[in-house]
Amino acid sequence: METVVSGIRSTGKLHLGNYYGAIQNFVKMQHEYNCFFFIADWHSLTTHPTPSDLHSNVKQVLVEYLAAGLDPEKSTLYVQSDVPETTELYLYLNMNAYVGELERSTSFKDKIRAQPDNVNAGLLTYPVLMAADIILHRATKVPVGKDQEQHLEMSRTFANRFNRLYNHDYFPEPYAFNFSDNLVRIPGLDGKGKMGKSEGEGNAVYLSDSPEIIRKKVMKAVTDSGPTAENQEKPVEIQNLFDLLKVVSTPDTYEHFDNLYNTCQIRYGDLKKQLAEDMIIATTPIRNRINDISQDTSYLRQVARHGAIKARESASKTIREVREIIGFRSF
Ligand code: TRP
Repeated sequence: METVVSGIRSTGKLHLGNYYGAIQNFVKMQHEYNCFFFIADWHSLTTHPTPSDLHSNVKQVLVEYLAAGLDPEKSTLYVQSDVPETTELYLYLNMNAYVGELERSTSFKDKIRAQPDNVNAGLLTYPVLMAADIILHRATKVPVGKDQEQHLEMSRTFANRFNRLYNHDYFPEPYAFNFSDNLVRIPGLDGKGKMGKSEGEGNAVYLSDSPEIIRKKVMKAVTDSGPTAENQEKPVEIQNLFDLLKVVSTPDTYEHFDNLYNTCQIRYGDLKKQLAEDMIIATTPIRNRINDISQDTSYLRQVARHGAIKARESASKTIREVREIIGFRSF
């Protein structure tokens, strides 16, 4: 069975875009592959979070992934910093990752622009740590978004370079992977891009948002003054609302509002009310589970321990073999 690895940055609450774009994929994948999903808390150190923020972010991501349907019995769900083997592989890979190629990565250049006063070496070697995460389990499939394509290419480079250096066909090449062909793009509520892409408070609907907050955010979504001709093309901000409707509402509901639009009879207030109610229906069971699971410290502890044990089994096997290949041998 092929191995899947994906890391989830612990940067806070999950929104509908994360859910429909990524998590639903993970949930399906866990039935068909040998899956490792981990919370990338070491990666989050590049921005120097406070100890209490670090901990609460890790907890939140773990809680929300469990609430959204990741099953710790089916996939290996772990916290990166619970698997020290990762850092050992990171060290080995660093010895044959070149400063020049790391400096050329687009994510590094973006980071220099975003945090010019904190251009630390951890940022530079972020792609090396990511490669270590992946090849530690000798994974071939990595479910990530388009923005991670260059990182995966670097992972393949480091894996191949290791193989060549030691003349050993040990690490397989990891590739970005999407479970479903029809990628759903979840737009935000501000009429601009993807959900979560811009920082505006009202742009994203979070899985943990209460019904009142969801209603408020959706009612504030950007619209125009309405169609003026039958069957006219929808402007971006209106298309976005219909795209969201397509994801959370029934096909009948979608068609109903589409017809009203096409015959110039639409009232955006009605559409938004319906959209908000259907988002509430979709998120309520998840929100309830988030609230329950976050209270259950002993369950969380058990999940994290169980995940760490399973991840370390796989990781320590790799490290044992890598040490042998490199030439660390006992007397
Ligand atoms: N860089 C990824 C992101 O920003 C997170 C990540 C860290 C990751 N390690 C990984 C993703 C390993 C896939 C595999 O989203």
